Amino acid sequence: MKAAVLQQLKEHRSDYLSGGNIGRRLGISRAAVWKHICTLRDGGYRIEARSGRGYRLRETPDLLLPEEVQPGLTTTVIGRTYRHYHSVSSTNDAARQLAREGAPEGTVVVAEEQTGGRGRLGRGWHSPRGGLWVSVILRPAAPPARAPEVTFVAAVACVEALRRYPGLEIAVKWPNDLLWKGRKLGGILTEMSGEFDRINHIALGIGLNVNLEAADFPAGLGAVTSLSAITGFSLSRAGLLQELLAVLEHWYNVWLTDGFAPVLAAWKRVHHGPGRPVRVVGIDGVCTGAAVGVDDDGALLVRTASGRTERILAGDVLFEDGERP
Ligand code: BTN
Repeated sequence: MKAAVLQQLKEHRSDYLSGGNIGRRLGISRAAVWKHICTLRDGGYRIEARSGRGYRLRETPDLLLPEEVQPGLTTTVIGRTYRHYHSVSSTNDAARQLAREGAPEGTVVVAEEQTGGRGRLGRGWHSPRGGLWVSVILRPAAPPARAPEVTFVAAVACVEALRRYPGLEIAVKWPNDLLWKGRKLGGILTEMSGEFDRINHIALGIGLNVNLEAADFPAGLGAVTSLSAITGFSLSRAGLLQELLAVLEHWYNVWLTDGFAPVLAAWKRVHHGPGRPVRVVGIDGVCTGAAVGVDDDGALLVRTASGRTERILAGDVLFEDGERP
């Protein structure tokens, strides 16, 4: 009902709307309207009250509140259950906990900031306010071996969502780095809980540096950038999230119905790296050679100086030619 009160205020932004009027439209008492106005104010909405005239929405907070995101969602499943945190250790941790408690497929968990954001290979992920830190709970009827494919689904969705902004040519560095002119703009962390033969749930975490200034990044983080630094203006994070969830649902459905092949084909179109000299720091050591592509399972193929082709399942790719993707 709080969302319905907000909707009324949004639809009548140019004028005041009395508590009685809102109450009649929604079938609730004036006292109940007042209660919802107080809750909205606590959430950051600036709502003016004038005696004899009513309420008027003056300012909407720049927050990823469900009231700001869900009404504009075009998805069927993803984002229909939605959890917003002002601050949380990691949205992936929160999503995993919710999944264990039975949260449905498509549950979205977002946070304004993460105090213990996590990246791949046990690294941290710097997540101050202004970014898009989101995790999605997925429950595909698929064997655990196919869970890593979801990273490719997410990478394709991210690139597609970001390419709708003019001039944003985003490349993917295997397996999941989102880059702009060689600078890291975002990343994906796919975590799975499953049994021998089936996935129980996947926490698909996506981090995008949206409205962050250079000063928001700690020194020593390497080549990073943000959407606001690239475009020169602040983007609507709610709009970006709605777009991202829509394309994610599309590509997730493609994967569920048609398998990995069409996803991998789309991923290859945005992958930068084939043919280039690379050094891959993997869990089993370092491998150098030419990145010749990826196989049908999404593993990176590296041709070494001895002529052997190594199949890499996890690791960090460093380009040896100094060129940017
Ligand atoms: C990487 O490139 O290393 C992956 C980074 C993934 C970061 C996102 S932000 C939302 C979600 N919660 C986390 O703690 N991590 C992922």
